[in-house]
Amino acid sequence: MKKVLKWFGIVLAGLVALLVVVLIGLVIFAQMSFKRSYTNRPLYEITADNSPEAQARAKYLMEGVMSCDKACHSEFGARFAGGYDEVNEGPISAVFAVPNLTSDVETGLGGWSDAQIARAIREGVDKDGVGLVVMPANNYHVLSDADMAAILGYLRSLEPVKNEVPTISLNTVGKVMLALGLLGPSSSVGEPITAPQVAPQPGSVEYGAYLVSLADCRGCHRADLAGGALPFSDPGDAPAANLTPAGRLPFWSEAEFIATVREGQAPGRRLTEGMPRYQMNDEDLVAIFKYLGTLEPVQTGN
Ligand code: HEC
Repeated sequence: MKKVLKWFGIVLAGLVALLVVVLIGLVIFAQMSFKRSYTNRPLYEITADNSPEAQARAKYLMEGVMSCDKACHSEFGARFAGGYDEVNEGPISAVFAVPNLTSDVETGLGGWSDAQIARAIREGVDKDGVGLVVMPANNYHVLSDADMAAILGYLRSLEPVKNEVPTISLNTVGKVMLALGLLGPSSSVGEPITAPQVAPQPGSVEYGAYLVSLADCRGCHRADLAGGALPFSDPGDAPAANLTPAGRLPFWSEAEFIATVREGQAPGRRLTEGMPRYQMNDEDLVAIFKYLGTLEPVQTGN
């Protein structure tokens, strides 16, 4: 009996030791992946385009397709001026901060070069070579040089708003959860862009894929676009729908798809506010519809 107990003790001690090692490893990993330094990251030459065509293009992309403004950067009041919130929930304590994108020199992007802003948006690395946290730069990695230059022109034209925002900070538990992907994408740093980038032909399936990336459809409909519960949702909230050919879309006309995504009017029902209304034109929505039709069907109940 004593012997059994002794062995039991040794095994238990071994397991506890293993657990401690795993935990320490996890904490080190989480600390290292938070705001990692990318000091040798090159800057890709690019200049803001302020032509009227580029202005119109950027307005369409920024207001109809991407949701930089609605989703985060205007969340604290002033448009594009960012802000922060101190969060203390259970074991997590954090300063959740969204940067000021207006052209204010001290507190916004006024002191950044065009190339530095483009690198932050497309690659997720800030002015000083530090990896951005939470920012979904992986969606914007595909941005063509022309669209990127137009967006730079748009950002440069924003009236400066003085609003000092601290950088995001998290306690150790928060960093571990972030590293494990439990707080959304943990790191959005992408490969360096070293060659010219061109957008696919408008109207094509590939262009549909381009728009799906810029519009962050996967942020809610999941990586495989087969849908599921939204992050941080309440049990009663509608899950994001299955957009693969195993869902309802193959039974819809183009016009029905357009009304659904633009106005929230799906065949036979109105969608909840959980689904944003995208002010995209018919041609672009049809390209998205075509692209969704080419996806691998994934069976889900969503
Ligand atoms: C912020 C989260 C979010 C984003 C981003 C989002 N969706 Fe949705 N979507 C939802 C939710 C939630 C529903 C279900 C709403 C309901 O049932 O009331 C939905 C429903 C839909 C539906 C209805 C499908 C059906 O079978 O009823 C379509 C179509 C759709 N989304 C397309 C898109 C496309 C295309 C994009 C990107 C351009 C996109 N969504 C981006 C959350 C999102």
